[in-house]
Amino acid sequence: MPPTRLQTAGPALGLLRWYDDFGRDLPWRKKGGVRPDPYHVWLSEIMLQQTTVAAVIPYFHKFLGRWPTVTALAAADLDQVLAAWAGLGYYARARNLHKCALAVAALPAARFPETEDELRALPGIGPYTAAAIAAIAFNRHAAVVDGNVERVIARLRRIETPLPAAKPEITAIVSDLTPHDRPGDFAQAMMDLGATICAPRNPDCDACPWSQACMARQAGVQTELPRKAAKTAKPVRRGTAFVLFSKDGRVLLRRRPEKGLLGGMYEPPGTVWGPSFGHVEDAPVKTRFETGGEVRHTFTHFELTLKVEVAFDVPENAPGGVWVRLDELETFALPNVMRKVIERALTVEPPARTARKRG
Ligand code: ADE
Repeated sequence: MPPTRLQTAGPALGLLRWYDDFGRDLPWRKKGGVRPDPYHVWLSEIMLQQTTVAAVIPYFHKFLGRWPTVTALAAADLDQVLAAWAGLGYYARARNLHKCALAVAALPAARFPETEDELRALPGIGPYTAAAIAAIAFNRHAAVVDGNVERVIARLRRIETPLPAAKPEITAIVSDLTPHDRPGDFAQAMMDLGATICAPRNPDCDACPWSQACMARQAGVQTELPRKAAKTAKPVRRGTAFVLFSKDGRVLLRRRPEKGLLGGMYEPPGTVWGPSFGHVEDAPVKTRFETGGEVRHTFTHFELTLKVEVAFDVPENAPGGVWVRLDELETFALPNVMRKVIERALTVEPPARTARKRG
């Protein structure tokens, strides 16, 4: 028989008490019954998609410092937003962030909508994020299920079905457990429990407010859950990046096409990413190249290995693009993989200049 709301009041209460005492203080979070700013909640939830809390915090502060309101963010240039986002990864989020800011700024009083359905209609807001914003910013009853929550519930109820097949069952349990009076705090408490106690490998069951109720713990199988369907290996792509330095140490960048992967971001020129690395002959200038080794990067749908080829003293009139001083790089929307490429290139020694003739 599915648990009724009366039966589930107990666990929710225990978790909320734990949250009041041990929930993390995070910059976008308000505790003690105070409602957080929906703009802060939205911004943090977009940044937290596929990204850790520790990585997000400095970016969250940077964005709020530059764009304190959704209207201010909407008024920014997309290029500024992409540059500020650089380093966080999954750049479609930054483009959608800006689109969403424009959409919200156009609403009456530039207010975020409050229901899951309305939130989901906005760019970059999927079912998880809509539920999180509705619950956390507007105290709406919503089942908020991220990876942490999946783990907590799979253990609490000893769900043996592997993910992702178990997801609907888990969502139904979360919906049942979520209390009507503090749904936002409950959602955040679940996330914190998953992040700090119910860890993937070494859960700290002694400190867990749900240790008595946890069915996986009773059976001693907590570290085996959740089960996951075997992942298929990602395809591999290869390419070569050409890092060209001018005489005064600037580096050549070009802008990627607006559409597609890393759209509108900057990179050193390079070959097409495919089954083979490509050739030095494909470089935009004919010059001597030094080998800078390889850089690997994991994207959502493939693994990339880039060979890094470095050239020095390249005339600035040669190929198209922008020549950028190294201290200006942070103002460019440079994806992490390309930061790695440039860092690698900077470890390469220029070839010894032709020895001067002795007198
Ligand atoms: N991960 C995603 N959203 C979060 C939140 N609001 N608090 C902590 N971790 C999160």
